[in-house]
Amino acid sequence: MINDIQEKILKLKKEKNCCILAHSYVAKEITEVADFVGDSFQLSAAAKNVDKEMILFCGVHFMAETAKILSPDKKVVLAAPHAGCPMAEQFTPDEVVKFKNEHPDYAVVSYINTTAALKCVTDVCVTSASALNVVGNMEEENILFIPDINLGSYVKENFPQKNIVLWNGGCPVHGRMTSADAEKAKSLHPDALLLVHPECPPEVCEKADYIGSTGGIMKYVDEHNHDEYIIGTEISIAELLSYKYPDKKFYPMHKGLICPDMKETTLMDVYKALLGTGGLEIEMSDEYIKKASGCINRMLELNK
Ligand code: 13P
Ligand code: SF4
Repeated sequence: MINDIQEKILKLKKEKNCCILAHSYVAKEITEVADFVGDSFQLSAAAKNVDKEMILFCGVHFMAETAKILSPDKKVVLAAPHAGCPMAEQFTPDEVVKFKNEHPDYAVVSYINTTAALKCVTDVCVTSASALNVVGNMEEENILFIPDINLGSYVKENFPQKNIVLWNGGCPVHGRMTSADAEKAKSLHPDALLLVHPECPPEVCEKADYIGSTGGIMKYVDEHNHDEYIIGTEISIAELLSYKYPDKKFYPMHKGLICPDMKETTLMDVYKALLGTGGLEIEMSDEYIKKASGCINRMLELNK
């Protein structure tokens, strides 16, 4: 049954000259029909280079917006119209503009998990994979980092010489992990290495053997000859790794590491979006795209 729908999707995808981009947190049956699966940085780079007429995005709203900003000539459709990242809207552009007016010597660095409206008032964007490189390569010493206080703390710890102001936002999924959760997982699996996402709180990160983006965590496993891992990020990463390495063991750090928004996209959403009877087309004026693209392009330039 799933195979039937997947086959229809693959056929329609060709007919519509469409490229499917999927974040690694979406369900496995969707990653199987995607042209590219990755973390936020990898997906941004892929969106910039798509050579098809249409991009169908399987993930959350800000990711499809980013794809449109990077590929303005393409038709960009979000497969699940209501899938949004709660962190993306935790602050308003007005709050940021007020801060900028009061602190003209500060650069605003925003996590890519923000709305396009926030990107319009951001100086430089970062993803979890690019944050250290980008902030390290910035000339500015005074930085306001929004919205994720945990990713911001991780960056701040790596650059004590910079003056980084943090606002109190974050991911409700990673943010609820505690050091007790990390300790419990480690005592249950004493031979496992703990790999965590920097959206987890600092007291969790300090117990980790490795801190990195979803792509970084997968690469760490690719490059290390270890047999057991506790995975401190959305449950799909432990699942994808266990399919890739069936002889190794991957334990999610906590059963609550499930993002409901990332799990919202279904195969039927993908199918209907390709048929033209579902999905949400991302539309923005040229002027808006120009304004929002500055901080993303600066990230791509600074991530050297
Ligand atoms: P990355 O995939 O860039 O690591 O981000 C994780 C995330 O929470 C995306 O919403
Ligand atoms: Fe947003 Fe967290 Fe879900 Fe990622 S995992 S989309 S940051 S709520």
